[in-house]
Amino acid sequence: MSLGIVGGTGKLGSGLALRWSRAGHTIAIGSRDGAKARAHAEELAKKGCTATGGDNAWAAREGEVIVLTVPYDAHGPTLRAIAEAAAGKVLIDTTVPLVPPKVSRVHLPAGQAAALETQAIVGATTPVVSALHHVSATHLADLAHVLECDVLVASDDARAKAVTIGLVHDLGARGLDAGPLVNAIALESLTPVLIHLNRTYKSQGAGVVFTDLPTGRG
Ligand SMILES: NC(=O)c1ccc[n+]([C@@H]2O[C@H](COP(=O)([O-])OP(=O)(O)OC[C@H]3O[C@@H](n4cnc5c(N)ncnc54)[C@H](OP(=O)(O)O)[C@@H]3O)[C@@H](O)[C@H]2O)c1
Repeated sequence: MSLGIVGGTGKLGSGLALRWSRAGHTIAIGSRDGAKARAHAEELAKKGCTATGGDNAWAAREGEVIVLTVPYDAHGPTLRAIAEAAAGKVLIDTTVPLVPPKVSRVHLPAGQAAALETQAIVGATTPVVSALHHVSATHLADLAHVLECDVLVASDDARAKAVTIGLVHDLGARGLDAGPLVNAIALESLTPVLIHLNRTYKSQGAGVVFTDLPTGRG
């Protein structure tokens, strides 16, 4: 599958690109600056990742599925830049609406969740999925690291949710159906707690694991 990673020059986008490339997906890295994305794709190639780079709208056009990996303060402008290219495609939003420097505190944005704001910006014909908020970019980028965490996946579109759960499996983690897109409020709100746990217990990537579910791991 071709995956367009918008903001793919960053920490989360890079880790996802490495793992999805290893699983056989075609990766388009996006950036505000196409030249920066092309240089980043060359850096990722040294780690075994097959990717090409371009600006964010280009990456959104290239991807059958689009993955948004930018900080919350870049969320609205980035979505408006890619909305046309993203029309009708599955759009996975990883955004946590953090307010630096207090990133271990829950912050509800005006639209209650970044993913709900995303759906309002791109419109109902583009299925938005909220996912990947609880997986560490550090762990993703370390291909030898076995991901033991669960990834909660929320969307109002059943097909988009199933596609995303499959992509989570390809990362090596377990994707779980976490209900409708409104549940993104809970998903996004858990990440500041994980950041607090990392700081308190000197961890690189605290995650979540749900028990008593009869579904296999990645
Ligand atoms: N890091 C994690 O472990 C992790 C885990 C789960 C979820 N998340 C979420 O994933 C998203 C990305 O996190 P990250 O750690 O990968 O972020 P990051 O590395 O700080 O930034 C990702 C990319 O976003 C673009 N960007 C940065 N500031 C921007 C701005 N003002 N306007 C437009 N684009 C901007 C940059 O790309 P260009 O300069 O190339 O345009 C940058 O490489 C965040 O919403 C975060 O909450 C992160």
